[in-house]
Amino acid sequence: MRLKDKVALVTGAGSGFGAGIARLFASEGAKVVVNDINDNAGQTIAQEIRQAGGSATYVHADVSSREDTRLMIQAAIDFGGRLDVLVNNAGFTHRNKPFLDVTEDEFDRVYDVNVKAIFHALQEALPIFLEQGAGSVINTSSTAALRPRPGLGVYCSSKGAVNNLTKSLAIEFADKNIRINAVCPVIGETGLLETFMGAPDTPENRAKFQATIPMGRLSTPQDIARAALFLASDDAAFITGITMEVDGGRCI
Ligand SMILES: NC(=O)c1ccc[n+]([C@@H]2O[C@H](COP(=O)([O-])OP(=O)(O)OC[C@H]3O[C@@H](n4cnc5c(N)ncnc54)[C@H](O)[C@@H]3O)[C@@H](O)[C@H]2O)c1
Repeated sequence: MRLKDKVALVTGAGSGFGAGIARLFASEGAKVVVNDINDNAGQTIAQEIRQAGGSATYVHADVSSREDTRLMIQAAIDFGGRLDVLVNNAGFTHRNKPFLDVTEDEFDRVYDVNVKAIFHALQEALPIFLEQGAGSVINTSSTAALRPRPGLGVYCSSKGAVNNLTKSLAIEFADKNIRINAVCPVIGETGLLETFMGAPDTPENRAKFQATIPMGRLSTPQDIARAALFLASDDAAFITGITMEVDGGRCI
C-alpha cells in the first residue's frame, strides 16, 4: 500500500488517464476524490472504486473556473480531512488540424483547461500544503511539450507551459517539502485519441502513430497511472521538477 491513508484529488478522472490514476491510487490505499465535468462518467469511476473496496467520492467542477476549483478543493478536504496529492490531469485539445484553421475560442479553451486551471488549482491547494508542511503535485503534461507534432501547435505549446510551470514552481516550493512534477504521456488509448489523430480510430490510422513510437504501441491509462503512483509516493521523496516521459522511447 504505497499511498495508505493519503488523500488524493484527481481532476478529469471520469475517463482515460485520470480514471486509471484514480483506480490505481485507490487500490494503493488512497482516499480518492474523482473530479470531472462529465457527472455520469465521474460518478461511475467513484462507484467502481468503492465497489472494489476502495474509498472515493465524486466532485463536479470545471477546472477552468476559479470558483469551481475552490469548491472542489474544499470538498476534498471535507472528504479526507486533508489533501496530500493533487493530480492536475483534466485536459482539452483542438482537433489535429492546420494551425491556420484553429479558432480563437479553441485557443482560449485549450489554455483555460490545460494551463490556467493549473494556476487556479495550485493557488488554492498550495496554501493547504504549506499549512500541512507537505504536499505532492503531479501535472499531466504530454510528449507534445517535448517533441511537438504538426497539427497540434496550440495544444503542444500549452503543454510546454505546463512543463515550465512545473519546473519553476518546483524550485519555488522545494524547501517547503512540496514536490511538483509532471508526467508526459505519448499518444494514448483514451477519449482524446481521435481528436489528437485528427482521424477515425482505425487500425491503419493507429499504425501511423505507433510507427513513431520505438516500443511500437500507444500508451495506456495503466502506464500513466504507474508513473503517477511513483511520483505521488514516498519512493519519489527526493524527486521534484521532473517532466517524466512515459512514451516508449518517443522523445529520444
Ligand atoms: N490521450 C493522449 O494521447 C494524451 C497524450 C498526452 C497527454 N494527454 C493528457 O492527458 C490528460 C487526460 O486526457 P485523456 O487523454 O485521458 O482524455 P479523456 O478525454 O479520456 O479524459 C479527460 C477527462 O477530463 C475531463 N475534463 C475535460 N475538461 C474538463 C474540465 N474543464 N474540468 C474537469 N474535467 C474536465 C473530461 O470530461 C474527461 O473525462 C489531458 O491533460 C491530456 O492533455 C493525453
